[in-house]
Amino acid sequence: MKLNLDDIRFFKENGYLIKRNILDKALMAKAQERLWRFLPEGRSPKRPNSLIGPFNDKEEDRSHPNEIYKFRVNYRSIGHEPWMVRLLAKDPNVWSMAEQMLGKGCLQEPDRIRGIYCTLPFGNYPKPQLTCHVDGHPFHLGVVGYIDDVAPTGGSFTVWPGSHKHFYYAFNSQYKHDRNEEYRLICEYYNGHQPVDCFGEAGDIVFWHHRLAHMASPNNTCNVRQAVLYDFKKTDIDQTQLGPPSDNMWEDWSTELRDS
Ligand SMILES: [Fe+2]
Repeated sequence: MKLNLDDIRFFKENGYLIKRNILDKALMAKAQERLWRFLPEGRSPKRPNSLIGPFNDKEEDRSHPNEIYKFRVNYRSIGHEPWMVRLLAKDPNVWSMAEQMLGKGCLQEPDRIRGIYCTLPFGNYPKPQLTCHVDGHPFHLGVVGYIDDVAPTGGSFTVWPGSHKHFYYAFNSQYKHDRNEEYRLICEYYNGHQPVDCFGEAGDIVFWHHRLAHMASPNNTCNVRQAVLYDFKKTDIDQTQLGPPSDNMWEDWSTELRDS
């Protein structure tokens, strides 16, 4: 599968791109099955009400690398299993689109993905305000894949379009976690703006620029938000990460993307 010119231009302008119906159904089903087994006893899709958050104190688990707390499940230990890598990062279509954006043969081979990240339904619990942040760990291109349907307001990956063009210059380096004094001001600016709710169906993916403002929004639906995440990195990131932000923020991207 290839991105067309409109896709690439949309990504450059907005910092994200949604592609529908990409992921393998059998692998999504397997991921979901493992997720249900990972949840604390008594929390089961057979009893949908049991999936409403938050988790109680006894259920909370912050034993590295996994985390279960409040409305969050970060099931990271599953992320190194080869079929999980194949589900997202090495899905042939996901990989070819990422290579199209960053350059063929330029991506680091993944040995894992981040894992399965979930947001439980909030039920009657008060919803927090939508506040943006930018990730600080070094990578080029993020991808979020939904392994189950995420209806509007269902805890989607929520983004502030265009913010990557500002936040790219709110760090002292291209890829490291070294925010400058602009960061807070730009956050304040975007927190005053309405984000975009990237809802979707099982199999849909969202590509996003590494300096795009985003959040995992609260879940107002009855369905657990279930996503798999991966961060694409180029092989030369150890050399390029320390350099200052470039005048052309797309300098490290593919010729095709730069010229689009
Ligand atoms: Fe984040």
